[in-house]
Amino acid sequence: MQIFIDSADAAELKTLAQTGLVDGVTTNPSLVAKAGRDFFETLREICAAVPGPISAEVVAQDCETMIKEGLKLRAVAPNIVVKVPLTPEGLKACKYLEDNGHPTNVTLCFSAVQALMAAKAGATFVSPFIGRLDDNGQDGMELIREIRAIFDNYDYPTSILAASIRTAGHVRDAAIAGADCATIPPTVFKSLYKHVLTDMGLEAFLKDWKSTGQSIL
Ligand code: G3P
Repeated sequence: MQIFIDSADAAELKTLAQTGLVDGVTTNPSLVAKAGRDFFETLREICAAVPGPISAEVVAQDCETMIKEGLKLRAVAPNIVVKVPLTPEGLKACKYLEDNGHPTNVTLCFSAVQALMAAKAGATFVSPFIGRLDDNGQDGMELIREIRAIFDNYDYPTSILAASIRTAGHVRDAAIAGADCATIPPTVFKSLYKHVLTDMGLEAFLKDWKSTGQSIL
């Protein structure tokens, strides 16, 4: 499964990219507002730091303006993916952009049939929002399973990008359910390495090694 980071904090992304485990980045208007910096400057820095797909979202509501915004975003760097909302206008923009060689990520997906529409529009990625469905009393992970089954039934090449991830458990379950990618907040990404037994085990090994009085180098 590919791991993307859900953030518009260019400095933090640069640090996380040094792990060698970051395959891409997703941003959205809320994350850009939180970062509090110029959108285009931020995107340039992120695209330089992470070689994989970097999603940048349009904010227009109509297809024509979405396409104009999308093309301007694409001009920032070759690894930009144009993020469009799962609306009729967004899907029209998705189809136009994909037909003209520009990858898209259809965002704000909350149902399997919405994902089917995104796949039919030729989206490179579709982003089902797991955490927000859970917050709404629904089962976000069930949506990933449904989309996986539909895409496999018809061999749709659209990648399932599990989004709105809140916990390491979400990452595990999305991987089991067959999501192609998960976009993960930095705090959750850092928690993926962690296990108390790893820390305790390492401490014991180092203590015992020291008692031998030996060195490897
Ligand atoms: O980037 C889209 C998605 O991951 C947003 O997540 O936490 O705002 O529901 P969240």
